[in-house]
Amino acid sequence: MFKLLHSGVSYLVVLLVLFTFINAIVKLRTKDSYKKNDYYIAFTASLLVKMQLVLGLLSYYFSSYYETLRQVGFKAVMKDSTLRFFIMEHPLMMVLAISLIVLGFYNHKKQTDDVKKFKILAWYFGIALVFILSRIPWAQWFN
Ligand code: HEM
Repeated sequence: MFKLLHSGVSYLVVLLVLFTFINAIVKLRTKDSYKKNDYYIAFTASLLVKMQLVLGLLSYYFSSYYETLRQVGFKAVMKDSTLRFFIMEHPLMMVLAISLIVLGFYNHKKQTDDVKKFKILAWYFGIALVFILSRIPWAQWFN
């Protein structure tokens, strides 16, 4: 149940984070001003990743991976690439990405200069996107 939700919300997360990033880059290049829409795009993305954090933690807790971790211990998990990915790499990188998105959203809100707002969105969301794309279990997701 949580895994299914986590999987479905991932599509929205990837699309919205990508959209916020591209939007910021386009607005910087065209020297467009910051409008309400720009705020709502970034706001929705930051809200969705917070939801995804909760869903991720629940998926983690109820997954067979967590059960395995409890049974075999951390050292054994680190020796297996699949277990290491789902128990360590995926959650850690995603938590980092989510922190960047939330920080970027709050930092951009504080700025009064439009260019600075878009620069902050582009950097924070751009780096977060790289983290997310690098640690998505693509094969399992599209299976
Ligand atoms: C931006 C945030 C995140 C994205 C985009 C994301 C994306 C995904 C995707 C696409 C899958 C594969 C789903 C499937 O098999 O159909 C997955 C699985 C999983 N994710 Fe995440 N995730 C995120 C954050 C997290 C966090 C923060 C945690 C834990 C703290 C987490 C824990 C897990 C676990 C344990 C699985 C495997 C579930 C299972 O196969 O039983 N994820 N994630």
